[in-house]
Amino acid sequence: MIVLGIETSCDETGVAVVRNDRTVLSHLVLSQIKDHAVFGGVVPEIAARAHLDHLDRLIAAALKEANLTFSDLDGIAATCGPGLIGGVMVGMMAGKALALAHAKPFLAVNHLEAHLLSPRLVADIPYPFLVLLVSGGHTQILIAESLRHYRLWGTTRDDAVGECFDKSAKLMGLPYPGGPHLEKLAAECVIPPAALERFPFSIPMQHTATTDFSFSGLKTAVRTVMDRLGAEGPIARKDLADLAFSLQCTLSDTLSLRVHQAMQDFRKAYDIPAPVFAVCGGVAANKTIRAGLETTCRKNSFTFMAPPLEYCTDNGAMIAWAGMELLQAGYTSPLTVPARPRWPLEGLAASVTS
Ligand code: KG4
Ligand code: ZN
Repeated sequence: MIVLGIETSCDETGVAVVRNDRTVLSHLVLSQIKDHAVFGGVVPEIAARAHLDHLDRLIAAALKEANLTFSDLDGIAATCGPGLIGGVMVGMMAGKALALAHAKPFLAVNHLEAHLLSPRLVADIPYPFLVLLVSGGHTQILIAESLRHYRLWGTTRDDAVGECFDKSAKLMGLPYPGGPHLEKLAAECVIPPAALERFPFSIPMQHTATTDFSFSGLKTAVRTVMDRLGAEGPIARKDLADLAFSLQCTLSDTLSLRVHQAMQDFRKAYDIPAPVFAVCGGVAANKTIRAGLETTCRKNSFTFMAPPLEYCTDNGAMIAWAGMELLQAGYTSPLTVPARPRWPLEGLAASVTS
């Protein structure tokens, strides 16, 4: 089986063709970062227009690269939410039109579910498994019980961890999107123990046995440090690198601590001899965070799974793969399916009409 996937929910236009043996036949991502950088964040109207300008060309290029035509496809999948509604509508309408024109099944994909299933693009992870979803808008610990059935065990009470990266990076004068830039800057830190001592941050709700998160306090702490450093004169690159390093360590430790708690809860709730933990979403591309979570897995005897870096941030391959899973499970979507700006994972099975 072969599925085409279309992703347009934020500022990346992604198109990919994926086969049911987990081979990605083609995978193209056009980033709009330059279009939005001057505004310091994603401008929904600009994003929607950019998707419209480039999507047709990318779909044609993805098929060409896979050496296929529409007639070779078994289904067409598109993100139908959650996300910036203008962009979602562009990708969804393109997918529906192609499905109708070529008489192929249409698969309405939930963007968050596609992130959650992206580790299964690497290997056939058995259900149930524990997942950490860390993206620009979400920080959630979930149990993937089966396709379309997810249990939320923890979420953020304020900002998402990606938002904390992005907002802190902005305060530090780094370009949008901040996460990858902050990671690069942190790598310039020369004496890590000195950086941690000089800019100590505490883990939010450190002594509470919770699987919830809170990141807005850390962002405020970064602002306070930046104000203090700025008052002393121009801020040296070395100081920023130390600050970035310490913040990244704290974010990583925070995620690992919560995941550790969730692993203990998982062991009590499920009798599974070889449990699996998977991380997904844009922030899962961060190497320090991945390493921290791998260590947490080792400590708790969980197998660590994560998609390759290029499938962590938004892309068409994860949409095509989610569509593949739905198609194989016998789901298809009517062309009347709506675009949803909000579409939570909990209650997902009940929220779809097919
Ligand atoms: O999953 P994603 O591409 O889009 C959403 O669905 O939100 O995630 C984007 C988020 C942004 O906050 C971005 O700064 C963050 O992922 N991100 C990173 C890294 N790469 C992307 N954060 C930290 N380190 C990275 N290497
Ligand atoms: Zn995403």
